[in-house]
Amino acid sequence: MRWNQVFFRGRHAQGSDRPQGAALAEGSSLARPALSVCVASGKGGTGKSVLSASLATLLSARGRTLLVDADFGVGNAHILFDASPARSFVDVAQGHCQVREAVHGCGQSLDLIAGGSGVSRMAGLSLYEMHLVASGLEALEFEYEYLLVDSAAGISDQTVGFALASDVVLIVTTPDLTAMTDAYAFLKVLYARKPDARVSLIVNRCQADPDAPQFGLGEGECPSAEQLATRVAERIVEVSRKFLGCEPHYAGLVPEDRAVARSIAQRMPLVRSEPGSPAALALQARSVALFDEWSRIEPLGLGQSLRRSVAYQALSAS
Ligand SMILES: Nc1ncnc2c1ncn2[C@@H]1O[C@H](COP(=O)(O)OP(=O)(O)OP(=O)(O)O)[C@@H](O)[C@H]1O
Ligand SMILES: [Mg+2]
Repeated sequence: MRWNQVFFRGRHAQGSDRPQGAALAEGSSLARPALSVCVASGKGGTGKSVLSASLATLLSARGRTLLVDADFGVGNAHILFDASPARSFVDVAQGHCQVREAVHGCGQSLDLIAGGSGVSRMAGLSLYEMHLVASGLEALEFEYEYLLVDSAAGISDQTVGFALASDVVLIVTTPDLTAMTDAYAFLKVLYARKPDARVSLIVNRCQADPDAPQFGLGEGECPSAEQLATRVAERIVEVSRKFLGCEPHYAGLVPEDRAVARSIAQRMPLVRSEPGSPAALALQARSVALFDEWSRIEPLGLGQSLRRSVAYQALSAS
């Protein structure tokens, strides 16, 4: 298929364009684009994919949700849903299929576009490939209430580009100093280009730990998981306020929980496999407050914002 065919397909195409995913019903276009939430971290392995799978599951109980695995070429969101999509963003970016053909149903109101695997080059898409991805998302975003982006690690232009184009950013850090430092680095890049970005911060993998950094607690005291998370969040918020002039909102913690590893082994989002586990309960509690906050936001459209940014970059480069 030629690239302009991908780009200019009508966004509410029907008939032979019937989506693969379960959540898409014919003629299901909404009055506004989906609210987009970008889950990011800076450092790898902080729990973005695990949290995204559960948050997408919880969001889908409120409205149609599309989980976008933006870890292009090395994505694993599909594994957490025991899905084997035939198509992924790799095919979309290469112009081999329309984005609809890459939509895979993962639940009653939950669809996924997989990141694809084994293609490391995808971490640095060309402007043209990025344009295909952006316009593909634009073609879908009026058919969902929520788009949840599971980001790649790092602060590459591509990864930060998704955060910049999203309505909300959810930074996932752990209490590790390296994860905190990288979370700050991500915030620095993000706020430099979008000072009014709406950012929430989750501190994942918290546990009472006598070896944890004390962050102002008394010498020799063992902070509880809550104390540790609060100190971690305060540090990031304070430093951001002081040096960046902008600050994320602390949304709470998710505890270290062996149920997470079990849910991955079962290839199920934690809130489905063990909804009563401490981490799942924490996620449900966090999501109530977060979803309430997000419900007051007027979405701008992730695909449209991304496509504009790609066009701007193309014009600047020419
Ligand atoms: N709350 C938790 N309790 C215990 N283990 C956790 C928790 N959160 C995440 N993990 C573990 O951390 C590991 C990394 O999780 P995940 O793949 O979600 O991170 P990621 O940020 O998406 O990584 P990447 O940057 O590579 O995409 C997994 O093995 C998972 O089991
Ligand atoms: Mg991941």
